[in-house]
Amino acid sequence: MNKELVKHCSPLPPNSKLLVLGAGFSGQRVASIAKAHGRSVICSRRKFTQPGADLVFDSNENILPSKKDLDGITHILSCIPPSANGEDPVLTVLLDYLKDMPLQWVGYLSTTGVYGDSNGGWVSEKDTPKPQQTRSKRRLACEKAWQATGLPVQILRLPGIYGPGRSALESVKNSNCKVIEKSQQVFSRVHVDDIAGATFHLINKAAKGHWPNIVNIADDLPTSNKEVLVYAAKLLDLTLPPIEPFAIASKRMSAMALSFWQENRRVSNNLLCNELGYSLMHPNYQSGLKTIFETTKNG
Ligand SMILES: NC(=O)c1ccc[n+]([C@@H]2O[C@H](COP(=O)([O-])OP(=O)(O)OC[C@H]3O[C@@H](n4cnc5c(N)ncnc54)[C@H](OP(=O)(O)O)[C@@H]3O)[C@@H](O)[C@H]2O)c1
Repeated sequence: MNKELVKHCSPLPPNSKLLVLGAGFSGQRVASIAKAHGRSVICSRRKFTQPGADLVFDSNENILPSKKDLDGITHILSCIPPSANGEDPVLTVLLDYLKDMPLQWVGYLSTTGVYGDSNGGWVSEKDTPKPQQTRSKRRLACEKAWQATGLPVQILRLPGIYGPGRSALESVKNSNCKVIEKSQQVFSRVHVDDIAGATFHLINKAAKGHWPNIVNIADDLPTSNKEVLVYAAKLLDLTLPPIEPFAIASKRMSAMALSFWQENRRVSNNLLCNELGYSLMHPNYQSGLKTIFETTKNG
């Protein structure tokens, strides 16, 4: 575990017990830091064979933890996306358990897709969500369902997540890499280390009574995908394929890929970084990619 990251994150309050529901890419990062701080952590995955699984939870298969498995949990981070029917997998089957726990904080990882399209303008937590895609409408419904539980919930809205093993560096190394140009189009993003850092920061702020219902976790620099790929290629000393205009590339895109290009927004982190005082480890894609490149180049 990266010592700098562990130091950057404020430990959970003493005697905390964290449950990470859906400990995939982001959840594993959060869990590993809490463990490095010596805190008690339990992670769910859908199969015991998956890395870091302490217990199995799969709402689709109705495989649930027992109440005993969840004894004494004080903090929960749910990283599980809405199910295919749009319901929240945790709330549909575990809400009664959750209501019996001595919970101090419950974080729900959501997406900034709930804001919809702002024509490249900034969006903040104060804006009324205007989701366009079905998946974003479902996400907003899940946010509302969490908020209606009466639990001590905080919604953390995330843009595109990147980190070691999941970044533009992998895209550039992939022979199918596409460099698409669409005028004025930007995407917001966040490094997985800042999801973890911000989560611990927010838990500690909440313990002191600073508790906004919804917080965006994004870096400072929304940028075009092309710019990020150009930087990644430079780090790797690889040549990118020719740039394709969006008008041509879009004809061969899947509906899912196309839906990402149909929305253009800049996600503000003013609440997190200025009002709540979180300092980003990776304020921009250059910092994040360079660190991933440096730490993985000999691996
Ligand atoms: N990827 C992005 O760029 C992005 C951007 C914004 C928001 N988000 C959202 O942020 C959250 C965290 O993202 P991530 O990329 O860290 O997620 P991830 O790696 O895909 O992890 C999702 C977790 O949910 C678990 N899960 C899925 N369906 C489940 C079910 N029916 N019952 C129980 N567990 C279930 C998965 O189980 P297994 O461990 O068994 O796979 C996995 O642990 C997700 O909700 C994601 O949709 C992602």
